[in-house]
Amino acid sequence: MRMYDIIEKKRDGHTLTKEEIDYFVEGYTKEEIPDYQASALLMAIYFNDMTIEERAHLTSAMVESGDQIDLSDISGIKVDKHSTGGVGDTTTLILAPLVASVGVPVAKMSGRGLGHTGGTIDKLESVPGFHVEISNDQFIDLVNKNKVAVIGQSGNLTPADKKLYGLRDVTATVNSIPLIASSIMSKKIASGADAIVLDVKTGAGAFMKNLDDSKALAEAMVTIGNRVGRQTMAVISDMSQPLGYAIGNALEVKEAIDTLKGQGPKDLTELCLTLGSQMVVLANKASTMDEAREMLKESLTNGKAFEQFKVFLSSQGGDASVADQPENLPQAEFKIELPSLSTGTVSNIIADDIGTAAMMLGAGRATKDSEIDLAVGIVLHKKIGDRVKEGEALLTIHANQQNVEEVRQKLYKSIVVTEEDVPAPTLVYDTITK
Ligand code: URA
Ligand code: CA
Repeated sequence: MRMYDIIEKKRDGHTLTKEEIDYFVEGYTKEEIPDYQASALLMAIYFNDMTIEERAHLTSAMVESGDQIDLSDISGIKVDKHSTGGVGDTTTLILAPLVASVGVPVAKMSGRGLGHTGGTIDKLESVPGFHVEISNDQFIDLVNKNKVAVIGQSGNLTPADKKLYGLRDVTATVNSIPLIASSIMSKKIASGADAIVLDVKTGAGAFMKNLDDSKALAEAMVTIGNRVGRQTMAVISDMSQPLGYAIGNALEVKEAIDTLKGQGPKDLTELCLTLGSQMVVLANKASTMDEAREMLKESLTNGKAFEQFKVFLSSQGGDASVADQPENLPQAEFKIELPSLSTGTVSNIIADDIGTAAMMLGAGRATKDSEIDLAVGIVLHKKIGDRVKEGEALLTIHANQQNVEEVRQKLYKSIVVTEEDVPAPTLVYDTITK
């Protein structure tokens, strides 16, 4: 087999075989195929797309390029959730204990964040003592015992994806549905999930800015998952503004605690119930979405989800008393309100810019090696569609520096108040099942 022929075949719009796709992925991972040939093939895929079979073969080849996590010692159907990424997305912190509280095993492998705010691990580390440095055996024991545990990413997972993603980044081939879908799905599958729930974000703050693209990506991933034997469902949810009110690590933990007590923001609670219902159904703990939702709602009101969160925190060294006394989480020294300059309705909250402002305060990493400040961030008081009076606070900046002028300027540019009324955006646009 020759790489030249494979490039030519895709360039001319034909369908690649499993053998050809395996040859490319294996050869590129082993550095036997040079970047320039891989780039040419990626660009041909960008223009000529891939069939469902090709996408599934590409996903499987990337899964097989490295280690695969074996979770078979955990009893039950392991369901993982993946979000395509948003600002202030606190759902994982809530969903893990919430679905565990109704018996779904949650074996979560997570990473640290880059940009906006930290990743799930950074957020959890704002709980004093909490750590993810546990052995694989401990991880499996914890999930069997408590139904939930989080471990840091380890091992050599999907090296082919890592290399290809890096190459796509510099060859203008990131934005391709077959390539994005296989990239995301390969990582979920290699991490050992039996079933997968996807939260595909849509809107100005998301990777996919419009609904049609978001839907196409969701459908592509659901199709790949089911084709390679992992039951997969997706939700398409709004990211035209940040989710919930809090953006920042400890601030989001506090928001997760409120939500697990049944006192969280409406949008965040609703999205967790929607995603959680899919997880519960895929884990075979309920037969319909409605039944699953009722189970989860009950768990939020009777305290079971909240108790599960405390057990989870203390099982990994965390001080579970923060759940009852959130003031024991890291606190920023300065709390600065941003008053509205006019009376009207909030018509836009540019999620990306709010995320950048949180990063400027120190809540996120500008580069891989930046240190993050767990205490800082932004708490919104208004969301799109809310009325606000001149002088009333739009949000509070939590900072460890007194001079936040640059951040204030950025935030004023990212929240728009208009005279006319504006409806709140739709939260869940669609759910996609096979
Ligand atoms: N996120 C991924 O993991 N892969 C992509 O290709 C795009 C976004
Ligand atoms: Ca939030």
